Amino acid sequence: MREIGIGVLGAGWMGDMHAAAYKRLRCHYPELGVEPRLVIVADQSAERARQARDLHGFREWTTAWREVLEHPEVDAVSITTPNFMHREMALAAAAAGKHFWGEKPLGRFPVETAEIAAAVAAAGICTTVGFNYRHAPVVQHARNLIAGGEIGQITHYRGYFLCDYASHPLGALSWRFSRELAGLGVLGDLMSHAVDMAHYLAGPIARVTAQQSTLITERPKMTMSTGSTHFSVVENGDLVPVENEDAASSLVRFESGLRGTLEASRVIVGPHARMGFEVHGTNGALEWDFQRLNELLLYRVPKGTDDAGYSTVMAAPHHPDFARFQPGVGNSMGFSDLKVIESKLFLESIRDGSARPPSAADALASARVIDAMVRSIEQETWVDVGEISPTAPRALLEEER
Ligand SMILES: NC(=O)c1ccc[n+]([C@@H]2O[C@H](COP(=O)([O-])OP(=O)(O)OC[C@H]3O[C@@H](n4cnc5c(N)ncnc54)[C@H](O)[C@@H]3O)[C@@H](O)[C@H]2O)c1
Repeated sequence: MREIGIGVLGAGWMGDMHAAAYKRLRCHYPELGVEPRLVIVADQSAERARQARDLHGFREWTTAWREVLEHPEVDAVSITTPNFMHREMALAAAAAGKHFWGEKPLGRFPVETAEIAAAVAAAGICTTVGFNYRHAPVVQHARNLIAGGEIGQITHYRGYFLCDYASHPLGALSWRFSRELAGLGVLGDLMSHAVDMAHYLAGPIARVTAQQSTLITERPKMTMSTGSTHFSVVENGDLVPVENEDAASSLVRFESGLRGTLEASRVIVGPHARMGFEVHGTNGALEWDFQRLNELLLYRVPKGTDDAGYSTVMAAPHHPDFARFQPGVGNSMGFSDLKVIESKLFLESIRDGSARPPSAADALASARVIDAMVRSIEQETWVDVGEISPTAPRALLEEER
């Protein structure tokens, strides 16, 4: 069995998920022919790095992330730090010829994602990007149903990622709310996922018009490497300004001519993590919500006196990847399983020397659409998705307020 030495950069929520996924990989995909070996984990917090070493069984830990890329036994890395470190780490990984599994958004702004994608292409390394929602077995099944013409010609697409993780007015101002540390707000954090899903199911988006808003303009500050950067609430903290957008929505036109809508919010009340889609065709429709990961709603236009209405398709062993996790329908998979599927794609890419989607190329495709949304918001008009303008990271919020 060929071993791939793994380093993890950033031991927060996603660092933990990546490390756990690597460890579970062999149990779910024993025939892969390559096996990850956890070599070293880095976090700027010594406590977090040491804890990750102890928890996941890395051989070493460090607070100096460059040591990971210089380590002779490291072949590939996970980039799971906050967004402001992604560019530097990804470019250093490419220069060192080390493959990476990077969390989205790859860059703080589309222009950084473009720079990273170019460095990856020049270095010839393999990449995987954390667009995990497309790996859910019923989502893969939905894509196959669409491609097989089961719901006819697609007439409408609606995608969304509606979260309440920052809906509490005293939800902590972590790195996520800073333009310096996160870059864009929900456009990078959540809309990038919604765009990737739209591309996966319905093909490339060609033209957009968009709007954004910041609903909670000040939050209590929290220190890096403490608490949950999504969910912590700070009572009696100093309030500081939120620097990026809380919510965004967009009308989109696909290259095929299909029309649709995309929405994202981190402050909505009601949905917790409603990442999903509704696809309508001439013969039927499909609907999925991450909060019900194992259920796909399917509507078929009734024939004659057939009953009408949506039916629930439960994730089952005949759907892609499901049987690797559960033996029978009704036994549910969860979010961390999607990360195991993603780690399989990463290791397969390294084994075969060619990146499986979603890679940096898919992150760039999503970033191009986000860039068009940013330009549309600035210009208050429809814009074409195109090459990324180097002037994209402009201060949008000033105009908003
Ligand atoms: N794919 C998904 O569904 C998903 C979900 C959540 C987060 N993410 C992405 O994952 C990334 C990390 O998010 P998170 O929620 O894990 O964040 P987090 O804040 O929980 O963890 C980030 C970790 O990075 C460490 N860190 C910060 N600066 C560092 C440095 N210079 N060197 C080493 N370590 C450093 C912090 O101490 C912290 O432990 C973000 O890009 C985010 O957008 C993706």
